[in-house]
Amino acid sequence: MNRRSFFKLSWGTVGVGALVSALGVSFAAILRFLKPNVFYEPPQAFKIGTPGDFPFGAPTFLVEEKIFIFRDREKGFSAASAVCTHLGCTVAHFQSDQKFHCPCHGSVFGADGAAQHGPAPRALDWFEVTLARDGQLRVDKDKVVPSSYRLMV
Ligand code: FES
Repeated sequence: MNRRSFFKLSWGTVGVGALVSALGVSFAAILRFLKPNVFYEPPQAFKIGTPGDFPFGAPTFLVEEKIFIFRDREKGFSAASAVCTHLGCTVAHFQSDQKFHCPCHGSVFGADGAAQHGPAPRALDWFEVTLARDGQLRVDKDKVVPSSYRLMV
């Protein structure tokens, strides 16, 4: 093999290698493009326990779900969102005035969740509460209901 044919062969090999590499990277990029980015959220419908798990009177706050569960002797169960409609802070429920107070910017929501004071643009959401076949209460945060909605058990 003379010098000229050696360089011809070397550059040819380098060229083919570069082409194969470029095709491989392109193919990988296409495969990545075909696989969508997915945001995994916790399920919006979940069981929270049996009716007997919840006391009458003061609402039970479920921290992870960010909801208040109310149990009333005459009216039944209801579930209110604890997410402030202003910028999403977690509101607190005060038994003293039966209202929800947001610690971030001072919004106040009435007992029915209606925005009464502060920058919150709308009322708190209320979610559907149903009784599952296994006797547990089930809350569906995808189903917003009027504040008057109650589940009688
Ligand atoms: S986040 Fe509740 S008042 Fe701003």
